[in-house]
Amino acid sequence: MSEVIASVNPKGGVGKTTLAVHLAAAAHRDGRETTLLDTDPQGSVLDWHRRTPDKYDGPKVESLERDRTLAVAIGQTGSDVVIIDAPARLDEQTGRVLSNADLALVPVRPSGLDLWGTAEFLDVLTDHVDRGLEAAFVGSQRDVRTSLSDQLDAALSQLGLCLLEGLTLRVAYARSLSEGQTVLDGYDSTAAEEVRALYSDSLDLLQ
Ligand SMILES: Nc1ncnc2c1ncn2[C@@H]1O[C@H](COP(=O)(O)OP(=O)(O)OP(=O)(O)O)[C@@H](O)[C@H]1O
Ligand SMILES: [Mg+2]
Repeated sequence: MSEVIASVNPKGGVGKTTLAVHLAAAAHRDGRETTLLDTDPQGSVLDWHRRTPDKYDGPKVESLERDRTLAVAIGQTGSDVVIIDAPARLDEQTGRVLSNADLALVPVRPSGLDLWGTAEFLDVLTDHVDRGLEAAFVGSQRDVRTSLSDQLDAALSQLGLCLLEGLTLRVAYARSLSEGQTVLDGYDSTAAEEVRALYSDSLDLLQ
């Protein structure tokens, strides 16, 4: 059985794809057979994959074609770890992603507005958490000088959700992805440290 981690938030542009690709790269480097599954019709992960250099040593990449259910697609990977990049939508597919995941990571920018704008999503998410899903909010595009607000942390812990420090705002995230790579490929050692910490936090949540 694969361990399934989903990067999900119905809000657009919060860093879902950046998180998914980096986490998959970290799992791959950790020696685990990893598949990055693009479930977004926008195909951002596929775009990234098309740009990877020849013989790039990275995770396998697949997309969810219309004739395969998510559960079948996950099963067919045969991978130790499957990372799902979800689209910026809240619909039946969101429920399917959460039902098939062991861990849902929800990238949020520090203002927390990305979170409070989606009360309906929180309902769906907490519903799945009640049924055994692990979930955490993850800082995204965070200013290095600010930490995530205690208020956000307190509000989330009331819902039984935790908040991970996640990734700061760094040019290297955008640049490395635009070149079909990740910050782990020598772009920015501090960013690489953040990614490894996030991967390790994710493993802790899956224990
Ligand atoms: N930590 C970061 N530092 C700098 N830029 C970032 C960071 N995370 C994301 N970005 C940039 O922000 C933009 C949106 O990020 P990304 O595509 O990962 O978000 P998304 O939630 O997947 O978007 P969509 O909802 O369209 O799928 C991209 O241009 C990306 O390069
Ligand atoms: Mg995306």
